[in-house]
Amino acid sequence: MEQQLQGLKAEALEKIAAAANVKQLNEVRVAYLGKKGPITDLLKGMGKLPAEERPKMGALVNVVREEVTTELESRMAILEEQATREKLQKETIDITLPGRPVNVGNAHPLTRVVEEIEDLFLSMGYEIAEGPEVEKDYYNFEALNLPKGHPARDMQDSFYITDDVLLRTHTSPVQARTMIEKKGQPFKIICPGKVYRRDSDDATHSHQFTQIEGLVVGEDIRMSDLKGTLSLFAKKMFGDDREIRLRPSFFPFTEPSVEMDISCFKCGGEGCNVCKKTGWIEILGAGMVHPNVLEMAGYDSKRLTGFAFGMGPERIAMLKYGVEDIRHFYTNDTRFLQQFLRTEL
Ligand code: DAH
Repeated sequence: MEQQLQGLKAEALEKIAAAANVKQLNEVRVAYLGKKGPITDLLKGMGKLPAEERPKMGALVNVVREEVTTELESRMAILEEQATREKLQKETIDITLPGRPVNVGNAHPLTRVVEEIEDLFLSMGYEIAEGPEVEKDYYNFEALNLPKGHPARDMQDSFYITDDVLLRTHTSPVQARTMIEKKGQPFKIICPGKVYRRDSDDATHSHQFTQIEGLVVGEDIRMSDLKGTLSLFAKKMFGDDREIRLRPSFFPFTEPSVEMDISCFKCGGEGCNVCKKTGWIEILGAGMVHPNVLEMAGYDSKRLTGFAFGMGPERIAMLKYGVEDIRHFYTNDTRFLQQFLRTEL
């Protein structure tokens, strides 16, 4: 039995030395030291030995088992280190490879137009005002000289939440809100924001879109101030040689009311597809603030006057960038949006 044991030990040590990797070495461990291995078998067979030989043989089996285990562990350490080294070598980073391009985001074309307009008016001393999109009927209509039942309400059909609360149909309610806040004092504001109307979506209509409202209230504010301001705006947005033209119009909250056109930036006024052969492009609505609107918000319309205007950034962006369908602004197609990468970064 002793001979058998020494034979097993020699065999195990040989296999340990020959194991080329962790997996093979583990197989050797299971084969020789495992529960079903020959060394365990020998221990189990001890019962058949004469009683006086048992202690000696038992000790011997244990010594052999220790020796095999020690040898196995030291070989294991070597093989594991070797495996780690190989893995690291395989994973080395090739620093000469070109980097992957980073996807740089950019401002949405509407954001860009809104910011450009904000910058212009901020430079003229205007403040930016904001108001809620879920608005009271009072601010959206009544305070703007559109009492309940006024026929002009029909032009701006809304999404009603209750009889008195709706999604604002324009940014004009911020006029009334700001006047109440300013308590009779002069001010200049522009208010960009989202507005909603019950419209069927098509290439030029959307149930949700953006507007920018402007309002100036002060002593001696006249139509000529409005015209000068709008002329500057037209030149800044559409080119220095733009002319503007004011046509009479109607809004319940302004008197007189006008529609502003700019001379066509494509053909310069001769007539083309952009200006529909008229030489002029309609850009926004404006007017002198109606005395009723001033009075309802607590302003003395004999002492202070004002002008207001309202425009749609979508329309401006469509004209400026030649976008033919308003829905492109809302569908988040990166092929569309990537065309507006800022180059000046
Ligand atoms: N609120 C108007 C609209 O949505 C636009 C507008 C016209 C605003 C004239 C004004 C204005 O402030 O003076 O159609």
